[in-house]
Formats: sequence, C-alpha cells, structure tokens
Amino acid sequence: MSDYWQSFAPGEGRRAPRADAVTDARTISLNGTWAFRLSPTAAGTGEAFLSDDFDAAGWDSMRVPSHWVLEEFTPLAGGAARSMRGTAEGPLYTNTAYPIPIDPPYVQRENPTGDYRLEFDVPADFGDAVLRFQGVDSCAKVWLNGVELGWSTGSRLPFEFDAPVRPGRNVLAVRVHRFSAGTYLEDQDMWWLPGIFRDVELIERPEASIDDHFVHADYDHVTGVGTLRVDATCAAVVEIPELGIRIPAGDTWSGSVDPWSAESPRLYRGTLRSAGEAISLAVGFRRVSIDDGVFRVNGRPVKLRGVNRHEHDADRGRTLSLDDMRRDIELMKRANVDAVRTAHYPPHPDFLRLCDEYGLWVLLENDLETHGFIYSGWEGNPPAVPEWRDAIMDRMRRTLERDKNHPSIVIWSMANESMTGDAFAELRAYIDERDGSRPVIYERDPSYRDSDFYSVMYPSLEVLDQIGRHEEPASRKVGMHGMEFDAASSEPDPFDERRRGLPFLLIEYAHAMGNGPGSLSDYWEIMARHDRICGGFVWEWIDHGFRGPEGGFLHGSDIDYEPNGGRFNLDGLLFSDRTPSPAVRELAKAYAPIGISVTSSVITVTNTRHSRPTDDVVFEWRWTSGATVVASGAFDLLVDAGSSGVVDAPAAPAGDDLVLTVSAVLAADEVWAPAGHVVAWGQFVVVGGPELRSWPQTADRAAGVDPQFGTVSAGTDHRIRLGDALFEGGRLVSLGGIDIAGPVLDLHRAPTENDHGQGGNNNLARMWQQVGQNRLIDTVMSIDPGPDGLVVRGRTGAATRNHAAEWEMRWRWVDAALELTTTVDFVGPWGDTPYQHHDVWIPRIGLLFSLGSADEATWFGHGPDETYADSRMGSQVGVWTRTVDDMQTPHEVPQENGNHVDTRWLEIGGIRIDGGFDFTARRWTPLDLERAAHLRELRDSGRVWLNIDHAQMGIGSASVGPALPEKYRVPRERTSWTVRLRAA
Ligand code: GAL
Repeated sequence: MSDYWQSFAPGEGRRAPRADAVTDARTISLNGTWAFRLSPTAAGTGEAFLSDDFDAAGWDSMRVPSHWVLEEFTPLAGGAARSMRGTAEGPLYTNTAYPIPIDPPYVQRENPTGDYRLEFDVPADFGDAVLRFQGVDSCAKVWLNGVELGWSTGSRLPFEFDAPVRPGRNVLAVRVHRFSAGTYLEDQDMWWLPGIFRDVELIERPEASIDDHFVHADYDHVTGVGTLRVDATCAAVVEIPELGIRIPAGDTWSGSVDPWSAESPRLYRGTLRSAGEAISLAVGFRRVSIDDGVFRVNGRPVKLRGVNRHEHDADRGRTLSLDDMRRDIELMKRANVDAVRTAHYPPHPDFLRLCDEYGLWVLLENDLETHGFIYSGWEGNPPAVPEWRDAIMDRMRRTLERDKNHPSIVIWSMANESMTGDAFAELRAYIDERDGSRPVIYERDPSYRDSDFYSVMYPSLEVLDQIGRHEEPASRKVGMHGMEFDAASSEPDPFDERRRGLPFLLIEYAHAMGNGPGSLSDYWEIMARHDRICGGFVWEWIDHGFRGPEGGFLHGSDIDYEPNGGRFNLDGLLFSDRTPSPAVRELAKAYAPIGISVTSSVITVTNTRHSRPTDDVVFEWRWTSGATVVASGAFDLLVDAGSSGVVDAPAAPAGDDLVLTVSAVLAADEVWAPAGHVVAWGQFVVVGGPELRSWPQTADRAAGVDPQFGTVSAGTDHRIRLGDALFEGGRLVSLGGIDIAGPVLDLHRAPTENDHGQGGNNNLARMWQQVGQNRLIDTVMSIDPGPDGLVVRGRTGAATRNHAAEWEMRWRWVDAALELTTTVDFVGPWGDTPYQHHDVWIPRIGLLFSLGSADEATWFGHGPDETYADSRMGSQVGVWTRTVDDMQTPHEVPQENGNHVDTRWLEIGGIRIDGGFDFTARRWTPLDLERAAHLRELRDSGRVWLNIDHAQMGIGSASVGPALPEKYRVPRERTSWTVRLRAA
C-alpha cells in the first residue's frame, strides 16, 4: 500500500514550518461556503472535481472552517438539509480507544472522505503567494487549478504550500480523510471531528517578505534590564517606539523594561519591517528558569493556578470564534486561573495572542497522543518505532516554530499519554537546540529523563504531600490516578536521584466530571506549602457536549457506536455551552492569589501572587445581620507579593446571624473584568442565638398534659395532633395547616459521576445498587404518643437484605415549634459478608420530606451555590434566597446536586426549619434523579422534595482520581440530631 493517507510520512510538498505572525501582507481569506461531497471511502469522488469546468451543482454546501460531522449540509441545487449529529456517521467520542484497528500505518478504506472545492478570485496584481491551512482533521491533499500542491497530516497544526495562483478565477480542491496514519498520533480523549476546521488563507509573499522570525526577549530580574534580539530570515528592521528601539534584525538591544508576567502582562508593541512586509511584534520580556529545583519566572517562584483547556463549542466543535476564546480567558481570569495547559494540542493561534495580552502562563502541548496502544500492550507504540520518527518530529517542529514568539508560553509539553520511546530524546534535543529559553515537560515516561519536571496525574492528597516533601518512595511506579506508590515492587531506579531534584507539576488533578471536583482547597493548601510543587491544572475547563437532535448535550454513549468513551466528555468546570458550573466559584476561592483571614479583631491579608503587589485592589468590608448590611467601609492595604499585612477589624455591631465579610475587589476596570470584581474574600461568622435544647435524658415527667411539650391527642381518624402539627400513620402530614409530609429516613443519593469511580475502582454506585441502597423500604414499626410528645420507631432496609437502619423519631412541641430528634442505629451485616464484599459507605444520613408547594427558599448558611463537605470553601456564609428551580444544577446526566451544607435555618414553602443541617429541595425525588438518563427526562412531580440531612458525603474526584478522603465520608455509626420546624 502506498496511499499517502496510510503512510508513515507526515506530508509532502509543504513549506518549512515558521512563526505565526500578524502581517500587513495582502491576505485573502478563503473561509466561507465551499462545495462539498462526502464519500464513504478514501477514494473520494475521484479526480473530476479538480478540473476548472467541473460542475459542482449536485454537491452540498459546506461552511469552512467547520467539522462536516457537526454541520447541516444543504444540497447546492436546493433541497433538504441533513445533519449527521447523533448518528454513527457524525461526531464520535472515544477516550483511550482508537476507532480503527491497530495496524499502523494502515487505516481501513471505508474511511469517510470529504472532497471540498472552492472557486475564488485573485486580483491581477497579486504576486507570489502562500496557501495556509491552520488546521485540517485528519489528513488533507490539496490541488490548486488542477495541480497537486501536496498533502499533510497533523490535525491541529498549520501547513502551507507555495501557491502558484493566477489572476482572476482559481480553483482550490481539497480532499480530507476522516482517518489516516495521523490518527495513530492523535488519540486524545475527545471527539473525532474531521474537516477543515480552522482558517484557510492565501497570503501574498512579495520580494523580501519575512519568511520566519524569532523574538528573543530576556529579562534580568537583578538589574531590571531587558534584552531583545529578533532574528529574521531576511534583512529587516526592528522598531519598538516606546523603547526607542530601531535596530536591524539580528542585533541585540538592552535597556530598562517592565517585565512580562501573567499578573502584569506588559507587552511592548512594535514592528519587524523588511522591504516586502511588516510584521507586528508584541514583545514580553521575561526569563523562565529552574533554580534549586524550583520553577521560576523573572527569578520568582511560580505556582501555576491552572486549568486544562480543550477547544470546544457546543455547536461548532473545535472551530471557535474570537469571542469564544476571549470568553474562555475572561472566565478563567475571573476565576483566578492564571495558567492554561493547551490540552492536548496547540490551540488556534489567536488564543495565544490573547494569553499574551490578558496574561496567562501557558503550557503549550504538542499534538501527540498514542494512548490507544494500551490495547496492544504498548506493542508498536509510535514513539518507540523508528518508522514514525519523522511524523513525530514534524509535529514538535510545527508546534514550536509556529508558537515560539509568545511570552505567555513558559513550558513546552512534548505529548500527552504516549508512554515511552526514543522519539522523546530526539524531540527534546530539537527543542533545546532551537529554543533553550523554556523548560520541557513529558509526564508519562516514569524515568522523566527528557523532562524538566516530575509529574503524575490525579495523586491523592497524601501522595501529593509526600512528593512535596521529596519523600516519595524510590520507585518507578507512579502515584497516578490515586494509586498509592507501590514501594514493594519497586526496582532500583537509575533516574531516582535526578527525579527527586526536579520540580513537580501536577499536570492534571481534580476531575471536574459531573458534580465536583471536591478538595480543590485541600490540594491547593498542599501545593502552597511545598516549594517543589509548582502548581497544577484542573481537568478540565469545559464539558464537550454537542447540542443533540433532541435537545440537551450529547455524550459518547448517546451514539450507537462502539467503542465509545461514555460520559467522560462531560468533565469540565463549564457546561458545554460555557455556563460556569458551581465548581468555578470553588476554584476561584482555592486559586485566590490574596488570602484574607478575618477574626473578631484582626484582618490579615497575605499576597500569594507571583510578583504583583495589591496595588490594583481595594478592600471592602461589611457587617451583615441576616440579609441586612449594618455597617460597611473600605480600606487600601499595599502588600507586596510574598508578604502579609494586618489591619484592625471593624467592631461587631449588635444583631443576629452576624457575619463580617472582607473582599479584595478590582479598583479599576481590567480587560478581563470590571472594577468591583471580587478577587478574594474572607469571613468571620459570629455564631449567636440560642442553642437548640436537646432531648432530656430522663423521662421523669408526669403523665398527662405538659404545656412545655404540647398536647398529644389521638383523634378518631387515627390522626395524632401535636401542637399545630398533624400526624398520620406516624408521619407528619401538616404543620400549621401547611402541607408537609414525612419524613422518611434517607440514606442514599443519586450517584454522582465521581460515585461511579473509574474502571471498577471506587465504584460506589455499583455497590449501592448491589446492596439495594437505591430501593430501601422505610417502614414505621411503632407509634407512641406520650406526655413528652410522640415517639415513632421504624426500620429502613432493602428487599433481599438483612442489614438495615433502625430509627427513632421523637417529636415534641416546644416554644410553638415542632422539635424532631432522630436517632439512627445501623444493624446487621453492613460490612464485608459472604454475600456482599464491600463495607457499605452511606452517602447521607438524612430526612426526606415533601411539601405541597414551594417556589423559593431563604436560608442562613453557605450559599448561594450548592455546597458539599469538600466543596464549600468558595461559598460565603449569609442569608440567601433562591428559587427551587434555580437551585438545580443542570448536569446533562442527572445526579445528586444542589446541596447546602451547614444551614442554620431555612424557610421554604411556609415552613421554617432551625438546626444545623444540609438541605436540598427539588421538584422530583432523589430516585427520579437517579433514574433519569438525561436532564430533559426530569419532570415536576407536583410536590417539592426536601432533604433535611444530618450529613452528606463529599464529592471527591474518583471518576479518575483517588477515593474520597476519609474525612469527607459519612461515618456509619449511631447518629442522633435535632431540628425544629414551624410555620414561618
Ligand atoms: C487523563 C487524560 C485526559 C483525560 C483525563 C480523564 O488521563 O490525559 O485527556 O482523559 O485523564 O478525563
């Protein structure tokens, strides 16, 4: 077989890779509507479409740039549009698996192939030109006016051809194969999305145009001197008016400058001008180094507060608009994110220009992943196979050459999850030779021999702390995905000593799939403690769901195609349409670069930024009593990076539910947020008010009516009245005339994605299903009205099982309120037994009520977003009001959501509840939530289901990471708690 699309070669006929540039050279955008015809095999439509007089009237129209699998194509001759979205011809999602048999470099001939054709005009005076494709997935062959220019693979990388255009009408023909040998190098966890998905341009190349240029801008933090040299491939002049620079390309300038950092992205704009072309320069002076095992920029340690970003739009896939990119960056900056890993390929070049301008540290990753070779036991893994060497080098070269001039890029990443191979040493040597100014990372080779960083993905908190202390065992086994180091099976590692001296970068952690992640603040607290750890990148920024034919967002298993990666495409901090999930608020708190700790007497401000003092923020404070602001003010406090400052706290006013909140807000507009945006905050909560009275331990009251505890009376209709409360069959049915029913003991929750664990590990959802946790039967065993109130006892157990919870609910009427003390005992074999090989973790201990109606809730506690035991730091304590509908977090795959920890009181549906509890309110039952496969399946049940819980388990990251830390689990032990209810 010698078909180009299934050969080891990366391409043919292309120009040498070069720097992306903003140029004044005449450029014709070839974006727009092209003629398109999809064929089922790699043969495409044949050769007829290359010719000048080909009649494309029978073809479809196709938007360029786009992925054809996401578009509606309309026949050019008119007729019905069709879309393949949601079918096996459309977008396909796999995580680690290849959608083709592993037989490199071959690919099946039944390989959907799109032929594209565009007629365009070129002005008569247009000179020599270059035709540039910024990204074609996965392999393209190109003809201009019937002449073959060449072909290329490397989907997320540009390629260019010399383009002998003629004046007037020209015909461009492009054949794009869905799969190719390049597919073997592009097994990133994402949708397979073929097409010409980035811009196509024709750029004039006059005599003496600048083919390539390389900006070398260094900064000496000791002297404050910047050094600039711009190399160019032809004679040219470098001009930066602001610095008075006017020097020939290749000459060196030095002088005093302000350095570039993500916090102060100081760019000096200018031009590089030759006789034929002027290129815009955006120079940032900075020096990246690793000294004493610490990652630094401009001499100062950097902790990367990062996220992993894929390019995604819910309709257009990896074809993003400039607005989408800007939106991503604004949302990141507002969430205190200061670093982005371009997982797992170079993004559209405009994104990097925005990073330079807005200020983000960038870890730029090559377009290389061979994860699917895991299914061949890594037999034939391309980085280890010499035949693949050119194709692998080609990718790194095109990555580095395109993006070498961005000050925002501070680290090169050679690949993601491609195991080991000699190719990495060659890539490394190339990077060092071409650009010694940035360190290099590759996470998956356990020797780290070609990496300047030690890195593993998803370690537990304990393992991360061990690494921070340089105390990880001398083992080649990594603490990946929450696995503990396997010291016992460790072989001597010749690279151990070197690795131990490397800085550690958490390239992926905190898996944001579905509800979560938990523990963001825990991770950050460990990272902050250890110099060795230079930060981390949350997995990942945005869900990649496509709007489906029936509404909602598609995931892998919505499509009838095997293999598929299931729901793992929905694992971002933003929902697929870029709406931030509650996790963004949590992230903003964990990443806050200014610490504000507040006590009754002192406010301490700690500046943990890289270099910027607190000169851009104002500190605002307010004392609130409930929902009312009773006093407020503001102060300035200049604190240098790495230092702390202290001011006296304003004195507490009188009142209930008192909270002092101190916020650092932007003093002036920034490009990414308006003045007043909250960067950081801290709170002091005064816990006041009467303590709840506990149930008397001795039942020595006289029989009969006790005004203190209300009157219990058994009616003729088997109803029991206690104060204003009415009971039937041992359950409350109304309070003060309000329809409130229940409660039943609730020990379950609709599994979150993290409750499903990964690959059989930490699969709580399956365990719960096996032991009937989601089909518990809660029954009343006895109802005892007495002088002190009403005592109802019952049992909650699953059919087929003999383990259960026995409960007692003691109801009293106290101070015009209904007091409920619930005591739960766990009986029977909840642990490991011959029938059940798990110790059953219970996700909650709580009470499920239902209300006849309720539209909104007002509460005092954490809010307004949802909170869990391990995702509560980003929400302030206060009085919050939310509608029931707004309290639902719209996960495409329904799962537990909308909890509120540590609630002191709640008003909902005319009832007030006091105590210390978690609550959730929804229009469907928790079991409805569990049973629905998509959000659109949830239906209003006509009642509001209200959980008033003693505790709920945290969220964690176990869908890819470690098991939920012990401190966030719910102990399965005798438990007793009290709440009080009354008509509000
Ligand atoms: C990592 C991988 C990511 C993603 C993540 C799980 O191993 O690098 O691409 O698959 O796991 O969502």
